Amino acid sequence: MQLQGQKVVVVGGSSGIGFSTAELAKREGAEVIIASRNAERLNVAANALSVKAIVADVTSDDSIESLFRSVGEVDHVVVTAAQLKSGPFKTVSMDDVRLTMEGKFWGAWRVARSANIKPGGSLTLVSGFLSIRPRPNSAIVGAANGALESLSRSLAIDLAPVRVNAVSPGIIDTPIRAAMPEAARQDMLAKIAAALPVGRVGVGDDIARQILAFMTIGFATGAIVYIDGGALVT
Ligand SMILES: NC(=O)c1ccc[n+]([C@@H]2O[C@H](COP(=O)([O-])OP(=O)(O)OC[C@H]3O[C@@H](n4cnc5c(N)ncnc54)[C@H](OP(=O)(O)O)[C@@H]3O)[C@@H](O)[C@H]2O)c1
Repeated sequence: MQLQGQKVVVVGGSSGIGFSTAELAKREGAEVIIASRNAERLNVAANALSVKAIVADVTSDDSIESLFRSVGEVDHVVVTAAQLKSGPFKTVSMDDVRLTMEGKFWGAWRVARSANIKPGGSLTLVSGFLSIRPRPNSAIVGAANGALESLSRSLAIDLAPVRVNAVSPGIIDTPIRAAMPEAARQDMLAKIAAALPVGRVGVGDDIARQILAFMTIGFATGAIVYIDGGALVT
């Protein structure tokens, strides 16, 4: 077990990539704490994984400071929390684009400021391939992802000897698209899968494995790894 005796905090751990990361870290022997906003969803996830849960909102300085005060020193921190609102560039509301940056970018910034990570431990940020592969009506998400990737490289210097890396996923089948009608969601995922060299979209565990690699490879810092089923080469 690769994380025996280590403490791992997953901010955004109640769902999707964060849930898979918490599950893998627990399987590898870590003491895992998951954090997110919605207490009910968080508790369901924590019970399913048999891990500790702390309600925290990445858009609040106080909430994130309080989270890391209560967990104390940790070995690894992962941030998957995001609330994304995008739309056509000229008409998407400023409230929506500010909300996107507030959660995804400033949320990760707050976590990086507040977390007390042991020397040699790791912080992993989760960005997204729109940073370098723009799609229509997603400028704010691409910009947030690009900013996160730059931030992770800066923090590899500023937080050393803590190691800081980013994983940039392609399309992963998680509850992030739960608001879409199910038939439309399945149709969209099937079309994306058919266009990818690997012939499928990702699952949370595909990204969790990369995050585990960042935690356990002591030479990894300042890295950005794109795990996208080949989307960037098609
Ligand atoms: N899925 C994809 O295709 C894909 C592709 C590229 C990049 N990504 C990125 O990967 C990350 C994880 O995505 P996912 O697919 O795993 O999403 P997800 O299943 O929707 O999970 C998002 C998690 O973030 C938490 N969260 C949202 N806003 C929060 C806030 N303000 N404070 C604390 N927790 C908050 C949610 O908990 P609550 O319900 O409690 O808010 C949930 O635990 C995101 O940054 C996303 O942009 C995903």
